Amino acid sequence: MSGAVVEKSAGESARVSGDARIAVEAGRRRTFAVISHPDAGKSTLTEALALYAEVIDEAGAVHGKSGRRGVTSDWMEMERKRGISVTSAVLQFAYRDCVINLLDTPGHGDFSEDTYRVLAAVDAAVMLLDAAKGLEPQTLKLFDVCRTRGIPVLTFVNKWDRPGREALELLDEVEQTIGLRPMPVTWPVGVAGELRGLVEVATGEFRRYSRTAGGATRATTELVPAEVIAAEEPQYWAAAQDELALLEEIGAGFDEKDFLTGTATPVLFGAALNGVGVARLLDALVELAPAPEARDDAEGNPRPLEASTSGLVFKVQAGMDRAHRDRMAFVRICSGRFERGMVLTHAATGRPFATKYAQAVFGQQRTTVEEAFPGDIVGLVNAGALRPGDTLYSTEPVQFPAIPSFAPEHFAVVRGADAGTYKQFRRGIEQLDSEGVIQVLSSDLRGDQAPVLAAVGPLQFEVVTARLESEFRAPVTLETLSYSVTRRTDAAGAELLKGQSEVEVLTRRADGAVLALFSNKWRLETIRRKFDGLVLDALPAGSSER
Ligand code: G4P
Repeated sequence: MSGAVVEKSAGESARVSGDARIAVEAGRRRTFAVISHPDAGKSTLTEALALYAEVIDEAGAVHGKSGRRGVTSDWMEMERKRGISVTSAVLQFAYRDCVINLLDTPGHGDFSEDTYRVLAAVDAAVMLLDAAKGLEPQTLKLFDVCRTRGIPVLTFVNKWDRPGREALELLDEVEQTIGLRPMPVTWPVGVAGELRGLVEVATGEFRRYSRTAGGATRATTELVPAEVIAAEEPQYWAAAQDELALLEEIGAGFDEKDFLTGTATPVLFGAALNGVGVARLLDALVELAPAPEARDDAEGNPRPLEASTSGLVFKVQAGMDRAHRDRMAFVRICSGRFERGMVLTHAATGRPFATKYAQAVFGQQRTTVEEAFPGDIVGLVNAGALRPGDTLYSTEPVQFPAIPSFAPEHFAVVRGADAGTYKQFRRGIEQLDSEGVIQVLSSDLRGDQAPVLAAVGPLQFEVVTARLESEFRAPVTLETLSYSVTRRTDAAGAELLKGQSEVEVLTRRADGAVLALFSNKWRLETIRRKFDGLVLDALPAGSSER
């Protein structure tokens, strides 16, 4: 800025100080998700992070699977029965001078579309690996999404308290399989299953962890001088020193640019269940993970953080709480300061959206949100008109890029089982469609009474059936269709494909996309060869197509 004295109006001054506050607050935010294969320990780690940030005093308060755990997502019977989490919780907590927003992702691959949406709302991801298993299929798939979206990834190697693979071997796998250069931040002393503590790679300091009963309470750490641990554990200490020397030789030191550009990943070791390395992970998030930055709009122009309030809807969820049969839209604030009660514009329709009921969702608890800053997640109640991927803004208009829908691979015709409940059936289908629970396809041929449901994974059908029955009192029957490949076509393509066997053209209700469904990829190829110039575009791959 030049040194010229510029007279400012009161409004301008207020804006300048408001801008400064937005920059400071945004700079304190760390918004991330944990990506992992089921059973790697995501729920355990999520709880442990909350425990070590002192949000909860005992693990077991947030997630629910069995026994000591039992809260988050018992809104749906099915989740409990199957032990899966369909709903995504958002945890916000203060840690050091930062505000951490941890977005939970559904554990099951069938809900990868939901995970994809969540990843549209984060600035970083923690890739959680099981020390015995390394990179697993679901981790790889989610990592691909992070790479596509340019999300920097930290790696946490979990379950070091029990037998597993060698640390160097795991790092090698990460580098060879996904081409991400590992940069260890901590290093284990003792092989998996015989963990004695962790060395801080940058300083060489060694820390030992106290044992806690089942990890329910916080473990304490003790700084142990090198000569003491060297005397106590000569073999493990010597091995760790050799490995650290090797790492230094190959230049595995931390490089911020490589991390932020997605070519390298800081790696931390630990055991979420016993709290080992968890506080260190929180520190790494604060120190290394990026704060929110200007987000590109649909035209590719970055929307400055200080621009007027804007947000991206990344998830819409109904029935989270049996007592409130409402619909909540989860919005990531992208710019400006959000204040409860402000009226935002829904970019898709131009309609105003009142934000009187703005909430934070922590497990099953909801609290009112008075204000929020870029990186924060706000739950907006009564979000009937909002869909995942929608933009909301206050004064300066903006439209963020849509979140692409996955290519469905499972299809079924859904019909009301009872003619008397047709109204409820239609309302239910409409609602589940707009929440993005499943894609709803239709055609003149099939009519409104028998739309086609299109899913990335078959569990989505179970969610739809269960919800139609319990929330809408509309029992349904499903008839599976034997299509497995979807391509996007156009009106001319729809004409050409009419009457072809093993092919059907349907319109996606949510966005009017014309989709061609094929029995299999060979049929697709035959058709492609038969019709020159036929538009058949691939959609983003969901579960099995990688
Ligand atoms: P997920 O959300 O990724 O699916 O995994 P979750 O946290 O549910 O953990 C899966 C299993 O791994 C759980 O055991 C959990 O206790 C265990 N686990 C997680 N982190 C660690 C760790 O650091 N060390 C060890 N040894 N185990 C860990 P479970 O027996 O399947 O379930 P539960 O009965 O303990 O709930």
